[in-house]
Amino acid sequence: MAVATAQVDPKHNIQNARQAYYDKISEYHLTPLWEVLKYLVTPEPKTQMVPALWKFPQVEKLMLEAGEVITAEEAERRVLVLENPGDPGKSRITNALFAGIQLIMPGEIADVHRHVASAIRFVLKGKGAYTAVEGEKSQMEHGDFIITANWAPHDHGNPGKEPVMWLDVLDMPTINHFQTSFGEHFDQKMQNVNHEDGDSFDRYASGVLPDGAPAHLNRSPVINYPYAKMRPILERLKKTGDVDKRHGARVRYANPINGGPVLPTMGANLSLLPKGFKGEPYRSTDGTVFAVAEGKGTTIIDGKPFDWDVNDVFVAPPWKHYHHIVGSEDAVLFSISDRPAQEALGIWREGN
Ligand SMILES: [Fe+2]
Repeated sequence: MAVATAQVDPKHNIQNARQAYYDKISEYHLTPLWEVLKYLVTPEPKTQMVPALWKFPQVEKLMLEAGEVITAEEAERRVLVLENPGDPGKSRITNALFAGIQLIMPGEIADVHRHVASAIRFVLKGKGAYTAVEGEKSQMEHGDFIITANWAPHDHGNPGKEPVMWLDVLDMPTINHFQTSFGEHFDQKMQNVNHEDGDSFDRYASGVLPDGAPAHLNRSPVINYPYAKMRPILERLKKTGDVDKRHGARVRYANPINGGPVLPTMGANLSLLPKGFKGEPYRSTDGTVFAVAEGKGTTIIDGKPFDWDVNDVFVAPPWKHYHHIVGSEDAVLFSISDRPAQEALGIWREGN
């Protein structure tokens, strides 16, 4: 009589053996690298972040409604987070950066505090507010670029007559990645001001340095790079034809001590795109946040068109192609990313 022999699939057998092995090693908090290696070492950058755009009129309307439901004092900072739709719930616009729109109503102040996370402000709309940083009280005008370095005390106030809104970008996700966040409040609500408006710009960004200025400083001592001083430089670049085929007539905000980025974790640019500009495609490993200072246009990001107008904010994720197109009038774009941090680590790449 023939005896039936069980047909064993050798492949099935090895899978069972492997799973049994994985179960066993998991008790010792060990896992097999070979199962996940292809996700950890990718041939090209992968990101869950998606391109996105926030239209300013819509954000402004919702922001002003926030002014009715919570005071700046209650909120500490009245900010709506620009959360990347590809990564909801994480309060970030790229893996490295937080972005939000802050509103301060007439008569309000946002108390002095400080934190390890560095911040920048790019002023969108309204007049009459100020940011005080390390004893310098700086008036905020449309297009001004204001920096608040790691651990610098800062407060905001609006003694003016109209609501003031600006873009906040912080390196919080980077700081929290390293789990190095510290922050503190002060007993007083406002700093003692001991420097005039514009003092740090005049002192450090005029082609001279104060005698005895530090030879090394990894962040800019300038508090505010006023739009009124930056804008004519873009015009000069345009007139002399210094227009990059991808980025337009672009300046980089620099630390006057060493020519490096304004902050070790974040770098920013201001770019004039002349009328009729049709940029060549570009991509880089630093996910980049753009704010529209002037004009209107379209940016194609990862094949999708994003039409922008003044004060809109949009984001290009890491290693996604983008190019800018403008019509019959010049446009000016502010941009900021984590490029300095990537460069310091030797991991930044760009391509076309
Ligand atoms: Fe802050």
